[in-house]
Amino acid sequence: MDVLINVFVALHIIGIASLLGGFLTQMKAMGAGTARFTPAMLHGALTMLVTGVALVGLNQADDQTVNNVKIGIKLALLVVILALVYVKRDEEKVDKGAFIAVGALTTANIFIATVWT
Ligand code: HEM
Repeated sequence: MDVLINVFVALHIIGIASLLGGFLTQMKAMGAGTARFTPAMLHGALTMLVTGVALVGLNQADDQTVNNVKIGIKLALLVVILALVYVKRDEEKVDKGAFIAVGALTTANIFIATVWT
Protein backbone atom coordinates (compact mmCIF):
# COMPACT_ATOMS: atom_id res chain seq x y z
CA MET A 1 0.00 0.00 0.00
CA ASP A 2 2.90 2.35 0.84
CA VAL A 3 4.21 2.09 -2.72
CA LEU A 4 0.76 2.89 -4.15
CA ILE A 5 0.40 5.92 -1.85
CA ASN A 6 3.86 7.15 -2.88
CA VAL A 7 2.98 6.69 -6.57
CA PHE A 8 -0.10 8.88 -6.06
CA VAL A 9 1.96 11.49 -4.16
CA ALA A 10 4.30 11.53 -7.20
CA LEU A 11 1.32 11.98 -9.57
CA HIS A 12 0.02 14.72 -7.22
CA ILE A 13 3.37 16.50 -7.56
CA ILE A 14 3.30 16.14 -11.37
CA GLY A 15 -0.10 17.89 -11.17
CA ILE A 16 1.46 20.77 -9.18
CA ALA A 17 4.27 21.02 -11.74
CA SER A 18 1.76 21.32 -14.56
CA LEU A 19 -0.48 23.85 -12.77
CA LEU A 20 2.25 26.05 -11.27
CA GLY A 21 4.61 25.59 -14.25
CA GLY A 22 1.84 26.71 -16.60
CA PHE A 23 1.32 29.78 -14.43
CA LEU A 24 5.03 30.63 -14.26
CA THR A 25 5.47 30.44 -18.05
CA GLN A 26 2.78 33.13 -18.37
CA MET A 27 4.32 35.60 -15.92
CA LYS A 28 5.89 37.77 -18.61
CA ALA A 29 2.65 37.79 -20.60
CA MET A 30 0.80 38.67 -17.39
CA GLY A 31 2.90 41.81 -17.08
CA ALA A 32 1.86 42.74 -20.62
CA GLY A 33 -1.80 41.90 -19.88
CA THR A 34 -1.90 39.03 -22.40
CA ALA A 35 -1.67 36.00 -20.12
CA ARG A 36 -4.06 33.09 -20.63
CA PHE A 37 -4.88 29.88 -18.80
CA THR A 38 -3.05 27.15 -20.71
CA PRO A 39 -4.26 23.54 -21.13
CA ALA A 40 -1.37 22.47 -18.85
CA MET A 41 -2.93 24.53 -16.03
CA LEU A 42 -6.38 22.99 -16.50
CA HIS A 43 -5.01 19.45 -16.73
CA GLY A 44 -2.74 20.08 -13.74
CA ALA A 45 -5.69 21.29 -11.64
CA LEU A 46 -7.76 18.24 -12.65
CA THR A 47 -4.82 15.97 -11.81
CA MET A 48 -4.60 17.58 -8.35
CA LEU A 49 -8.28 16.86 -7.74
CA VAL A 50 -8.22 13.22 -8.91
CA THR A 51 -4.93 12.31 -7.19
CA GLY A 52 -5.85 14.25 -4.02
CA VAL A 53 -9.17 12.40 -3.65
CA ALA A 54 -7.37 9.10 -4.37
CA LEU A 55 -4.77 9.91 -1.69
CA VAL A 56 -7.49 10.54 0.89
CA GLY A 57 -9.05 7.15 0.07
CA LEU A 58 -5.73 5.30 0.04
CA ASN A 59 -4.61 6.82 3.35
CA GLN A 60 -7.92 5.95 4.99
CA ALA A 61 -7.83 2.41 3.58
CA ASP A 62 -4.33 2.12 5.06
CA ASP A 63 -5.63 3.28 8.49
CA GLN A 64 -3.53 6.44 8.36
CA THR A 65 -5.07 9.57 9.83
CA VAL A 66 -6.04 12.25 7.36
CA ASN A 67 -6.31 15.85 8.58
CA ASN A 68 -9.82 16.63 7.35
CA VAL A 69 -9.60 20.38 8.06
CA LYS A 70 -6.36 20.68 6.08
CA ILE A 71 -7.70 18.58 3.20
CA GLY A 72 -11.00 20.51 3.27
CA ILE A 73 -9.18 23.85 2.94
CA LYS A 74 -6.97 22.47 0.13
CA LEU A 75 -10.06 21.16 -1.66
CA ALA A 76 -11.89 24.49 -1.28
CA LEU A 77 -8.92 26.43 -2.72
CA LEU A 78 -8.57 23.94 -5.58
CA VAL A 79 -12.29 24.25 -6.43
CA VAL A 80 -11.80 28.02 -6.84
CA ILE A 81 -8.67 27.43 -8.97
CA LEU A 82 -10.44 24.85 -11.12
CA ALA A 83 -13.53 27.02 -11.57
CA LEU A 84 -11.45 30.00 -12.72
CA VAL A 85 -9.24 27.98 -15.08
CA TYR A 86 -12.16 25.98 -16.52
CA VAL A 87 -14.51 28.91 -17.09
CA LYS A 88 -11.83 31.08 -18.70
CA ARG A 89 -9.99 28.29 -20.56
CA ASP A 90 -10.94 29.61 -24.02
CA GLU A 91 -10.32 33.31 -23.28
CA GLU A 92 -7.31 34.57 -25.18
CA LYS A 93 -6.54 37.16 -22.50
CA VAL A 94 -7.34 36.67 -18.83
CA ASP A 95 -7.50 39.68 -16.50
CA LYS A 96 -4.56 40.03 -14.14
CA GLY A 97 -6.65 39.56 -10.98
CA ALA A 98 -7.95 36.12 -11.96
CA PHE A 99 -4.51 35.07 -13.12
CA ILE A 100 -2.75 36.20 -9.94
CA ALA A 101 -5.50 34.51 -7.86
CA VAL A 102 -4.74 31.12 -9.46
CA GLY A 103 -0.98 31.46 -8.85
CA ALA A 104 -1.49 32.68 -5.28
CA LEU A 105 -4.03 29.98 -4.36
CA THR A 106 -1.81 27.25 -5.84
CA THR A 107 1.17 28.55 -3.85
CA ALA A 108 -0.99 28.78 -0.71
CA ASN A 109 -2.00 25.13 -1.17
CA ILE A 110 1.64 24.07 -1.47
CA PHE A 111 2.45 25.80 1.84
CA ILE A 112 -0.66 24.38 3.53
CA ALA A 113 0.35 20.88 2.34
CA THR A 114 3.94 21.16 3.54
CA VAL A 115 4.01 23.52 6.56
CA TRP A 116 0.79 22.24 8.24
CA THR A 117 2.01 18.92 9.63
C1 HEM B 1 -3.48 23.08 -5.85
C2 HEM B 1 -3.89 22.13 -5.04
C3 HEM B 1 -3.00 21.23 -4.22
C4 HEM B 1 -1.66 21.32 -3.94
C5 HEM B 1 -0.67 22.40 -4.40
C6 HEM B 1 -1.30 20.18 -3.11
C7 HEM B 1 -0.04 19.92 -2.64
C8 HEM B 1 0.33 18.78 -1.98
C9 HEM B 1 1.69 18.41 -1.61
C10 HEM B 1 2.95 19.26 -1.90
C11 HEM B 1 1.64 17.23 -0.96
C12 HEM B 1 2.80 16.42 -0.37
C13 HEM B 1 2.96 16.78 1.07
C14 HEM B 1 3.68 15.74 1.87
O1 HEM B 1 3.65 14.56 1.49
O2 HEM B 1 4.25 16.13 2.91
C15 HEM B 1 0.24 16.82 -0.89
C16 HEM B 1 -0.22 15.68 -0.29
C17 HEM B 1 -1.54 15.33 -0.19
N1 HEM B 1 -2.62 15.99 -0.76
FE1 HEM B 1 -2.53 17.68 -1.86
N2 HEM B 1 -2.44 19.42 -2.90
C18 HEM B 1 -3.49 20.02 -3.56
C19 HEM B 1 -4.80 19.58 -3.60
C20 HEM B 1 -5.28 18.50 -2.91
C21 HEM B 1 -6.67 18.10 -2.86
C22 HEM B 1 -7.80 18.81 -3.59
C23 HEM B 1 -6.74 17.01 -2.05
C24 HEM B 1 -7.92 16.18 -1.62
C25 HEM B 1 -9.14 16.32 -2.01
C26 HEM B 1 -5.40 16.72 -1.60
C27 HEM B 1 -5.05 15.67 -0.77
C28 HEM B 1 -3.77 15.34 -0.40
C29 HEM B 1 -3.43 14.20 0.46
C30 HEM B 1 -4.42 13.23 1.09
C31 HEM B 1 -2.05 14.19 0.58
C32 HEM B 1 -1.17 13.18 1.37
C33 HEM B 1 -1.33 13.35 2.83
C34 HEM B 1 -0.84 14.68 3.36
O3 HEM B 1 0.36 14.96 3.29
O4 HEM B 1 -1.69 15.48 3.83
N3 HEM B 1 -4.54 17.64 -2.14
N4 HEM B 1 -0.53 17.78 -1.52
